Amino acid sequence: MPGRLLVFEGVEGCGKSTQLQQLQSALRQHGSFQQLQRQGVLPQLLVTREPGGTELGLGLRQLLLGYHGVAPMVSRAELLLYAADRAQHVEAVIKPALAAGSWVLCDRYIDSTVAYQGYGRGLDLAQIDQLNLVATGGLMPDLTLWLKLDAATGLARTRQRGAADRMEQADLAFHQRVQRGFETLAVQHPERIVAIDAAAPVEAVAADIFAVVEGYLQQWYTPNLMA
Ligand code: TMP
Repeated sequence: MPGRLLVFEGVEGCGKSTQLQQLQSALRQHGSFQQLQRQGVLPQLLVTREPGGTELGLGLRQLLLGYHGVAPMVSRAELLLYAADRAQHVEAVIKPALAAGSWVLCDRYIDSTVAYQGYGRGLDLAQIDQLNLVATGGLMPDLTLWLKLDAATGLARTRQRGAADRMEQADLAFHQRVQRGFETLAVQHPERIVAIDAAAPVEAVAADIFAVVEGYLQQWYTPNLMA
């Protein structure tokens, strides 16, 4: 049985990385998940991210977040670097893990490119869809958990953490457009995007996410869980 691709998305400071770790440990302790692993249905749980889920991707991440050359990075170059990172990641990491039956928990994926480079930078949305198709070979998430948080609140959280990277340094209006991008995507793809209120305390957000994922787990693996 092929695995499943679960993606976390949201604006800066929405708590994706924390929640991804929380979900990973909750699943490892979960009876149904352990049962599926004992049956050999789920070989492992892989946690990864974009950009930076491969060796090549780590170099691209450094460029994307740390580049401060005299001439600023133009938006189309930025778009292509995110796409290059994704192409390598899908081929070398995500597809083999899914083929082995694993669950892949991925911090950001195609919707980030639509939200940031499309809505944020203003690049052509149809071209971005095409480029996402080239980069992924059509591999779509089975479930996208969108951690919904007001852009200003999220940015304030990241700025408390210390030095802002190249993307975080963009102004509030940019991050508000990104947020509108995620809102639009959630309306367009209700079949795979679930909104989670990320303004709630960490434990409450984790519980909401777990409830959603547990529902999908039961739905996807009913025959195995009945065995
Ligand atoms: P993060 O994964 O630590 O949140 O940082 C990644 C940054 O890259 C974040 O600002 C969002 C941005 N990003 C894009 O602009 N486009 C993309 O396609 C992806 C995957 C990330």
